[in-house]
Amino acid sequence: MRKIAVSLSKGGVGKTTSAVNLSAGLANRGYKILLIDCDTQGQAAYYLGLKPEIGLAELIEDKVKPDNALIEAREGLYLLAGGRKLAEIKNLIARKDIRPEMTLTEALEPYNDKFDFIILDTSPGWDVMTVNVLFYATEILSPVSLEVLTIIGFSDFLKSLESIQKYSSADINFMLPTFFDRRISQPGEVLQQLNEYYKDKLCSPIRYNIRLSEAPGHGQTIFEYSPRSTGAEDYTLLTERVVNVK
Ligand SMILES: Nc1ncnc2c1ncn2[C@@H]1O[C@H](COP(=O)(O)OP(=O)(O)OP(=O)(O)O)[C@@H](O)[C@H]1O
Ligand SMILES: [Mg+2]
Repeated sequence: MRKIAVSLSKGGVGKTTSAVNLSAGLANRGYKILLIDCDTQGQAAYYLGLKPEIGLAELIEDKVKPDNALIEAREGLYLLAGGRKLAEIKNLIARKDIRPEMTLTEALEPYNDKFDFIILDTSPGWDVMTVNVLFYATEILSPVSLEVLTIIGFSDFLKSLESIQKYSSADINFMLPTFFDRRISQPGEVLQQLNEYYKDKLCSPIRYNIRLSEAPGHGQTIFEYSPRSTGAEDYTLLTERVVNVK
C-alpha cells in the first residue's frame, strides 16, 4: 500500500485537481483507491459531484465506524471527505498532550492494507493537520504552479521546502509543474531550474487546460468530462509515472 500526500504547495496551484484526477486515473487502471480530503474546504467531494454527510472528522472523533466513514465515489475509488468540521479536529489535535502528530495515523489504521493507494489532499499552508499528514504519508507529490513561480520566487520556494522537510519522514517523490503554458517564455526557464534541482523527481507538466477548470462544476473527473483533452492526457501521464515509480 502506497500513501501519497498531495502537499507542500501554495493555495490554488492544483492540489485538489491533481489528487482527484490521479485517484481517478489509478482507479481506472483497476487499483483500489482511498482519497482522503484533509482540507477544511472539503473540495474533493465537490470535484467528484458528491455531498457526503460524514468523513474524516467523524472518524477521528470516533463517531463512525471506519467502514461507514467512506463513500464509494466511483468504482474502486473511495472518498473519506473533508470539510468545515475538520477545523474543530485541528483544535482537538492541538490540545493533545500525547503524540498529537500521530492522531491521523492512528485514526487511519483500520484502512491499512485495504487499498493499493491512499491519496491525501491537503490545505494550502502549514498547520497541525499538515504535520499529521506528513507523519502518515510515505511519499509526497507537490504541485508547483508555473504561472506564479518566477526565477526569483523559486529560491524562496526551495527555502520553505527545506524548512518543512525537517519535520517529515516522507520525501518529495513527485514535483509536478502545473498551469504550464508554452506561449509564455518564463515557464520554460523555471522548468529548466526545477529540472536541474529535482532531476528524476520532476514530472512532466500539467498544461493549462480550461477543461480542467470546468470539470469540477459538473462534478466530474477530467476522464469523464473531457477524455480527449490535454488535461486528461497530462493526468494519464502522471498516473503512469506514479504507477511505475516504486
Ligand atoms: N491545469 C489547469 N488548467 C486550468 N485550470 C486548472 C488547472 N489545474 C487546476 N485548475 C483550476 O484552478 C483552480 C485551483 O485548482 P485546485 O482547486 O486544484 O487548487 P488547490 O491547490 O487545491 O487549491 P487550494 O489551495 O485552495 O486547496 C480550480 O478552479 C481548478 O479547476
Ligand atoms: Mg484544494
